[in-house]
Amino acid sequence: MPENNFDERIAKSYEARWPELFEPAVIDPVVSFLADLAGKGTALELGIGTGRIALPLSKRGVRVHGIELSPAMVAELHVKPGAKDIDVTIGDFATTRVNGAFKVAYLVRNTITNLTTQDEQVQCFQNVARHLVPGGCFVIEVYVPELQRLPPGQTIHAFAVTPTHLGFEEYEIANQVVFSHHYWMVDGQLETFSTPHRYVWPAELDLMARLAGMTLRERWSNWERQPFTSDSRSHVSVWERTP
Ligand SMILES: C[S@@+](CC[C@H](N)C(=O)[O-])C[C@H]1O[C@@H](n2cnc3c(N)ncnc32)[C@H](O)[C@@H]1O
Repeated sequence: MPENNFDERIAKSYEARWPELFEPAVIDPVVSFLADLAGKGTALELGIGTGRIALPLSKRGVRVHGIELSPAMVAELHVKPGAKDIDVTIGDFATTRVNGAFKVAYLVRNTITNLTTQDEQVQCFQNVARHLVPGGCFVIEVYVPELQRLPPGQTIHAFAVTPTHLGFEEYEIANQVVFSHHYWMVDGQLETFSTPHRYVWPAELDLMARLAGMTLRERWSNWERQPFTSDSRSHVSVWERTP
């Protein structure tokens, strides 16, 4: 089992720490994109967390099943309105099997990088392929590795610098791993959160998809379907399970 980094402290404060992720302007395009792909079918969210996307998608009429490692995150989901319509299985999304054949499976907010080895990421694609109906789609939202932004010889990239929040990534190039560090001041107290990630390039994801019997159908720079270019810092990619 991978390490569970989302304990009760993080689960209870998830929305307060990352309020921008809960803005309707952020959530609505994700939900529309996924609802279009699901059509009348069902959806599987890997790393469903507190239901940030699953709950509004379910309210749109799409049946959602989630897989989640952290019981504390699921406990937060369960106290929200609409939670009774969503089934959640506790487990590792690289290996856990659930009942059902899904039209769409999705993994948002860089969560593929929570699998810290190539083997686990490959397993994840294979696990998803087993859960999709023929022609079903796998959607990933993930950043493009920020190596282009590292000055030569440097390994640290700061992504948040405010008086109350310092966030930076520490790249370990030889292992294709990046450690993400957060330091917050909350009510005069220092709070920290550090997690390991395996950064992954779009082309490597395409190869993992191919190994699992899927082919790239679309790649955008965001949920509004803006083109993916050399300047894009993240992407939304859709692979289709070949019939
Ligand atoms: C960044 S949060 C995203 C939660 C939710 N998808 C959202 O968009 O708000 C990542 C979630 O994935 C879960 N997670 C990470 N690795 C996992 C794994 N291998 N299997 C299942 N869940 C995992 C974490 O516990 C956490 O709830």
